[in-house]
Amino acid sequence: MKLIVTGGAGFIGSNFIRLLLEKPDDHLKLLNLDKLTYAGNLDNLTDVSEDSRYTFVKGDIADILEMRKIFEQFEPDALINFAAESHVDRSIEDAAPFIRANIQGTQVLLDCAMAFGTKRFLQISTDEVYGSLSESDPAFTEKNPVVPNSPYAASKASADHLVLAYHHTYDMDVVVTRCSNNYGPYQFPEKLIPLMIHNALTDKPLPVYGDGRNIRDWIYVKDHCTALHEVLVRGEAGRVYNIGGDQEFRNIEVVKAILSIVGKPESLIKFVKDRPGHDFRYAMDNSRITGELGWEPSVTFEEGLEQTISWYLSKKDWVKKVISGEYREYFDRMYGDRLSAN
Ligand code: NAD
Ligand code: TYD
Repeated sequence: MKLIVTGGAGFIGSNFIRLLLEKPDDHLKLLNLDKLTYAGNLDNLTDVSEDSRYTFVKGDIADILEMRKIFEQFEPDALINFAAESHVDRSIEDAAPFIRANIQGTQVLLDCAMAFGTKRFLQISTDEVYGSLSESDPAFTEKNPVVPNSPYAASKASADHLVLAYHHTYDMDVVVTRCSNNYGPYQFPEKLIPLMIHNALTDKPLPVYGDGRNIRDWIYVKDHCTALHEVLVRGEAGRVYNIGGDQEFRNIEVVKAILSIVGKPESLIKFVKDRPGHDFRYAMDNSRITGELGWEPSVTFEEGLEQTISWYLSKKDWVKKVISGEYREYFDRMYGDRLSAN
C-alpha cells in the first residue's frame, strides 16, 4: 500500500508513522508530507528516517500546485490527514492560519485524492467539534450535533463537513475520526500536559486557566494510533468514529498528578486569567468503534502519565531544541501578562 501521511512531523502523526513502520510490512510505501511549521519537527522521526519504506517531502497541503505534483508522482492508495494548526489558544490569537491549513488544505487534498484516484481518505478530527458538555451531560456520540466554539474547533468542523460532503456528493471513500485530548511522547509543550511537565521540571509557575475545574478526556497517543490503524483498514466509508480514552479528569487534577510524580510542590500552581470561550467539558462515547471494530484503549491515565514524564526526562535535548526561539516568544506573549497579574 502507498500511503501519504500529512502532518507526519507533528505529535500524533510521528507516533502513527512509528507504529506503522514497526510492523513488518514489505508492501508499505509511506510518504510523510509536512510543511514543518513551528509544530513540525523531523527530530520526532530520526529513529525511522533510514527505513527504506519511508520518504519525507516538505509541502503545504493548501498549495494545490505542490499537492498535484506530489499526488502525480507518488500515486497514493490512501491518505491520512493529520496536517493542521492544532492549538486552541493560537486560534484565539489569529484564526487565519487555521482557515488556510485546516479548511483550505483539506479541500485541496480532497480534490487531489479525487483527481488521482486515491482509494481511501482518512480525516483526523477532534471531539472539540461537538462543542462543550456540562458536568451531567452524557458523553458525545457520533450523532451529537456539530457545534464548535473556538476558531480551531470551527475550522476542524468545517473540514469534517467537507470530507463527508465529498462522500455524499462524489461517493468518495472517506472516513472521519474524532478523538479526545492526546498526550505522550513528542508532544509540543504548548499543550497542557507537556507544558506543565516542562514547567514543573524547571521550577517555573504552572499556569492553570480559570478555576482549573474544566474536564477533558485523556487518551495516550499510542492508543489513538492503534485506533486509527483499525479505522484505516476496516472503517466503513462515509462513517464517523469517536475515539476516547475513557479517562476524564479536571485540569487541576492533571496538574497535581504531574507535580506529585515529579516530586515538586503544589505552590508552583498559579491560577491565571481564563481562556476566552473556554469549553467546560469533553467526553467521548466509544461504543461505535468498540462494537464495530473491536478497538479499545489499553493505557490508564496513571500509566500513560508516568511513561510520558519518563520520556520527557530522557529526551532533554529534544526539549531544549523545541523550547528555543519561537516557543519562548509564544510563551511570553501568551502567559507574560497572565502570570505577572498574580
Ligand atoms: P501538531 O500541531 O503536533 O502537528 C501538526 C503537524 O501538521 C505539524 O507537523 C505541522 O508542521 C503540520 N502542518 C501544519 N500545517 C500544515 C500545512 N499547511 N501543510 C502541511 N503540514 C502542515 O498536531 P497534533 O497534536 O499532532 O494533531 C494532529 C491532528 O490531530 C490535527 O489534525 C488535530 O486537529 C488532530 N487532533 C489532535 C488532538 C490532540 O490532542 N493533539 C486531539 C484530537 C485530534
Ligand atoms: P489544551 O492542551 O490546550 O487542549 P484543549 O484546549 O484543546 O482541550 O488544554 C487542555 C485544558 O487545559 C484546557 O481546558 C485548557 C487548560 N490549560 C490550562 O489550564 N493552562 C494551560 O497553560 C494550557 C495550555 C491549557
